[in-house]
Amino acid sequence: MEKFVFAILRTEFDDDYLKWENVCRERQDRVDWDVIDITRTDWLECVKARPYDGLLAMPPGITSALKTMYDERVYILHTVLGLPVYPSMEEIQIYENKKYLSYWLAANGIPHPDTKVFYNRNEALDFAASTPLPVVGKMSVGASGRGVSILKTREEAVQYVKDIFSGKGPARSTGPNWKKKGLLKRAIRKLLKPAELKGKLEQYRTQRSELQREFAIFQEFIPHDFEWRVVRIGDSFFAHKKIVRGDKASGTLLKGYENPPLELFDFVKKITDLKDFWSQSVDIFIGPDGRYLVNEMQCTFGQSDPYQMLVDGRPGRYRMRDGEWVFEPGDFNRFASFLLRLDHFMEILGENRAIAADHLAMAGK
Ligand SMILES: Nc1ncnc2c1ncn2[C@@H]1O[C@H](COP(=O)(O)OP(=O)(O)O)[C@@H](O)[C@H]1O
Ligand SMILES: [Mg+2]
Repeated sequence: MEKFVFAILRTEFDDDYLKWENVCRERQDRVDWDVIDITRTDWLECVKARPYDGLLAMPPGITSALKTMYDERVYILHTVLGLPVYPSMEEIQIYENKKYLSYWLAANGIPHPDTKVFYNRNEALDFAASTPLPVVGKMSVGASGRGVSILKTREEAVQYVKDIFSGKGPARSTGPNWKKKGLLKRAIRKLLKPAELKGKLEQYRTQRSELQREFAIFQEFIPHDFEWRVVRIGDSFFAHKKIVRGDKASGTLLKGYENPPLELFDFVKKITDLKDFWSQSVDIFIGPDGRYLVNEMQCTFGQSDPYQMLVDGRPGRYRMRDGEWVFEPGDFNRFASFLLRLDHFMEILGENRAIAADHLAMAGK
């Protein structure tokens, strides 16, 4: 069979694209690939230089300027050049964009914590002066709990708005996320590798340069001890708990691997079927009335353990078979789940190839 030829779209600001490269290497009997730095000025020529079957994307979440660059360029490659992209275009657009995600969830009628985006300072001040407390302030980009402020007093809420619209930006932390377990060990390892350390420091500097001064995002506070993280890749489903430490469940890497309730998968299947989403982690709170509420949706996400789910202590996945959720034990999350993604993309493209061949055959008759 003819090999698939892929372009991995990297940025110069992180090494996450290596996850795609590792799995392309693992499937080298079926895959040929190039790595293209989409932050360079010749990005378009580079992608046009070879007839790629598809793009393997790794959208950045470090600043909104980089995120916009990535979205714009991938959009052109996908819609104008017609190149299939994995994850899908819409999955990339809602990724690491908390305000856009809130519009998307509301417009699609998906339950989520009530979220308000203010571009008008006075309107935001009025809201901060009257909304029930605590209230949550969020930056649009900035992963691992760094851009999220739990505002407990009226003064804090009002100051939060003033800081944003005065150009100071909301208070937040950049730099190492000390909540992560094993961070000290990692920091020491990094110190022994000066090049890596330099890269990390540059990343923090870029992160700090992000000032959100045009708008404020406020969200209803949902008390919780954990979030469910439900992962869907193709027709494989997984779930585990992310447990709160301090007042955040994000970035702590504290996991709970008890058996997930199957209603979670019904909920996430419904949401991801809406738009044929391919690769999603959906972070879910349980609201005061017991309803599932979507906090975040991400097409690419870290994986700190070799699996995403344990059922009765065994790693595996759920799939819907004849209307029932069926557990299959197995090692489906190898290479941080990127092998599952790559195989899924090839399956989609393979089906398209078969359909195209059918059409050609019919036209020939
Ligand atoms: N509406 C909310 N109510 C209560 N806690 C929240 C709310 N939104 C976020 N948090 C807490 O803050 C953490 C980080 O927020 P999140 O929106 O997931 O951002 P990110 O993971 O990108 O930093 C969450 O894991 C959760 O524990
Ligand atoms: Mg989160």
